[in-house]
Amino acid sequence: MRYILGIETSCDETAAAVLEGRRVRSSITATQAPLHAQWGGVVPEAAARQHVERLNPVLQQALEEAGVALGQIDAFAVTNRPGLVGALVVGLAAAKALAFALQKPFVGVNHLEGHLYSAFLTEPDAEIPFPHLTLIVSGGHTELILAHGHGDYTLLGHTLDDAAGEAFDKTARLLGLGYPGGPAIDQWARHGDPNAFAFPRARVEGWHFSFSGLKTAVRREVERLQAQNALNETTLSDLCASFQQAVLDMLIEKTLAAAQAHRIETLTVVGGVAANSALQMQMRAACHQAGVNLKIPPPHYCTDNAAMIALAGYFRLLAGERADYDLDAYANAPLGS
Ligand code: KG4
Ligand code: ZN
Repeated sequence: MRYILGIETSCDETAAAVLEGRRVRSSITATQAPLHAQWGGVVPEAAARQHVERLNPVLQQALEEAGVALGQIDAFAVTNRPGLVGALVVGLAAAKALAFALQKPFVGVNHLEGHLYSAFLTEPDAEIPFPHLTLIVSGGHTELILAHGHGDYTLLGHTLDDAAGEAFDKTARLLGLGYPGGPAIDQWARHGDPNAFAFPRARVEGWHFSFSGLKTAVRREVERLQAQNALNETTLSDLCASFQQAVLDMLIEKTLAAAQAHRIETLTVVGGVAANSALQMQMRAACHQAGVNLKIPPPHYCTDNAAMIALAGYFRLLAGERADYDLDAYANAPLGS
């Protein structure tokens, strides 16, 4: 099994990638963000229709960049859960059609498992360290997962309300910064004072998270500033920096505590929010102090991509897994019990 083609269409990125073993030969991602920006968030039917339009060109580009012909592909890996079902079905149908036409095996991959493997895409020759702890922080998920081995996970904690990326997106919308909000807040926060506003840090039991109270606190502060006609570039930067710091404090404190409680040597932070520059800096400092080895993928592997799906698929195929043609798509599918 030399070449694996990965397909990802769970949300608003149409992506395809070719791996040679564990090595990325190509990874193409066509983002729909500009399309959904007009609505301030992902519209499921529009996402599905865009995948239909974009998937074939993206597949073709992935093959071209890899220098691999379709006939050389040995197996297919496709995200079939969790995600927008209408969007997932586009990638799933394409994977089945290709597998059927070429009479090659395919596997369905849990999108979250893909994110888990994204931390190891840039080190194809290094052994993947187990156990390790993963913090998944994306637009749809905020989860702490203990990985004991390939395909063997324990879900330690999750968000009780909004995902971290969702909190970024909703706060950015409130501040009129557009969609997706994470990168915009990241930029604005660079010029702001993280201590300007004392936003709450939710105290949640166990290894869970909560961000909805913070979002409400920001809304109240924005309304107060607007009433005083004091919402300007300086206060906007301060709001972004203070909001971002509150999110980071909650994420970093709990994740490091979980790493220590489980005597974890390697921590990975993955998902779109892992691209946040302040998160990377502060998590690095915290891990350095705690003696924990930290891995964060480069930005293009933090956000949704098909290389991570192909790598998760690689290990499943290696273990002998094969999907049937009746494989379905699922909106919800937690990773680990
Ligand atoms: O992993 P991802 O591409 O898609 C999901 O599976 O959800 O994550 C997208 C999320 C969005 O909420 C976006 O605002 C956030 O990641 N994000 C960021 C940054 N870049 C992307 N959040 C904070 N800072 C960033 N630099
Ligand atoms: Zn994702």
